[in-house]
Amino acid sequence: MQQKIIILDFGSQTTQLIGRRLRDLDTFCEILPYNKFPYDDPSIIGVILSGSPYSVYDPEAFKVDLNGIRGKYPILGICYGAQFMAHTGGGKVEPAGSREYGRANLKTFEKENPLFEGFSDNSQVWMSHGDTITQLPENFKCIASTDKVKYAAYQANDEKLWGVQFHPEAFHSEQGTLLLKNFAVNICGSRQDWSPASFVESTVAQLKEELGDDRVILGLSGGVDSSVAAVLLNKAIGDHLTCIFVNHGLLRKNEFEDVLRDYECLGLNVIGVDASEKFFSELAGVTDPEKKRKIIGKGFIDVFDAEAMKIKDAKWLAQGTIYPDRIESLNITGKTIKSHHNVGGLPEKMNLRLCEPLKWLFKDEVRRVGRQMGMPEHLIGRHPFPGPGLAVRILGDITREKVAVLQEADDIFIRGLKEWKTTGKDGSQTSLYDQVWQAGVILLPIQSVGVMGDERTYEKAVALRAVTSQDAMSADWAHLPYEFLAKVSNDIINHVKGVNRVCYDVSSKPPATIEWE
Ligand code: XMP
Repeated sequence: MQQKIIILDFGSQTTQLIGRRLRDLDTFCEILPYNKFPYDDPSIIGVILSGSPYSVYDPEAFKVDLNGIRGKYPILGICYGAQFMAHTGGGKVEPAGSREYGRANLKTFEKENPLFEGFSDNSQVWMSHGDTITQLPENFKCIASTDKVKYAAYQANDEKLWGVQFHPEAFHSEQGTLLLKNFAVNICGSRQDWSPASFVESTVAQLKEELGDDRVILGLSGGVDSSVAAVLLNKAIGDHLTCIFVNHGLLRKNEFEDVLRDYECLGLNVIGVDASEKFFSELAGVTDPEKKRKIIGKGFIDVFDAEAMKIKDAKWLAQGTIYPDRIESLNITGKTIKSHHNVGGLPEKMNLRLCEPLKWLFKDEVRRVGRQMGMPEHLIGRHPFPGPGLAVRILGDITREKVAVLQEADDIFIRGLKEWKTTGKDGSQTSLYDQVWQAGVILLPIQSVGVMGDERTYEKAVALRAVTSQDAMSADWAHLPYEFLAKVSNDIINHVKGVNRVCYDVSSKPPATIEWE
């Protein structure tokens, strides 16, 4: 049985990060809303209580009854999680004089405590809290302090229950991963057997068992998630999987043909549908970005549905849904929001059941699984690309001509990023493409004066966009070398007819966004 640690989410922005860190320790974990503990799950080996935007004494604070959890599993409370257990155990939590945010050092800690095994003196931790524990419950002991925080960590006497005021999941907690490892492995007994290879083996076996001889349909987008899901399913059920790849005409230059070829080389049973004509005619004259998105979304569903309906005996709709798409995140009202999309009304219409083989994986785990199955690096390492494609990178209305101009400029930029390598400190070479999260070109709705030969020109301007990011929630503009920008700008202006000016977008998110529309 796959062991798991349950992370109860009290609404902190770093809850997902706790999950990430545990997965990096090859330990399977599940993030659940604070009030949805699965009491009858026999595979649980430990519980973590996350931070929260609330104070424990806020009337609307998230509260949970720990009866049935405490004493049965090892527990680690982080920030609010620690305060909550101290508060409900009879201790005191009060507003700190001022909100403490930033680096601190563990001035003292209990060296023999299993939570701190291997810790060095003055270990740096990350604090982010407005409240502080001012008194521990009677049967709790202090096991670490910083200059400002007396109860930086505690343990309940003779009980496998710990609380830490700092955030071990945060990057700036230097030995945070070691602390989580001490908890997961030494205290909870994780076997650390969660790996891409074990995932592929067990998922393929499960899919075989679950799907049997049933037919399955899957929508491919060219992106990493749907591609990896398709290869995984193909391993399990071969030709019983039919993939549908729709071209809305707003993909990158040659992308439809190239990706379709890749899919065929991977042995996938794939139907490529070129519906660009339909999309161009429906988009004609539309300038509002949200309207463009709606038209493309609906058009995609129509085309997909029409193809799917031809597969008469299909029983399942497979999707490349990944874990962050599904985590029931808490909003401040305490309601759970589920961001889970089905393809149109297809599952109900065709009476299809949903199959989501990647639903437990984070994005980089999906990539590791893809590599494990031998998928080519250019498919695995692809940048994210928006569903509506170049439609949101052409400001204003969309025409075939504009798409063709943008595709050429984008192709020069992306090829340039792939070809330009820089050498890291360890001597290894990586392309600029692999160093950035996402990149693309935006066609601007303005013209400007230029001069070519003896002629004055009055032509289009494009903006280059490249960002670094972890998760697209925030992003920094990529500091690309000037020499590279000079070359790309020159190549675009010399080769792309209709463009005489190139700008580089130096805005970060927030307050800007990655896309311009
Ligand atoms: P923003 O522009 O909000 O983008 O910073 C964040 C990430 O989402 C992608 N994006 C989209 N993806 N449909 C999609 O499937 C969309 O309408 C859409 N808009 C933005 C964007 O490319 C980036 O990766």
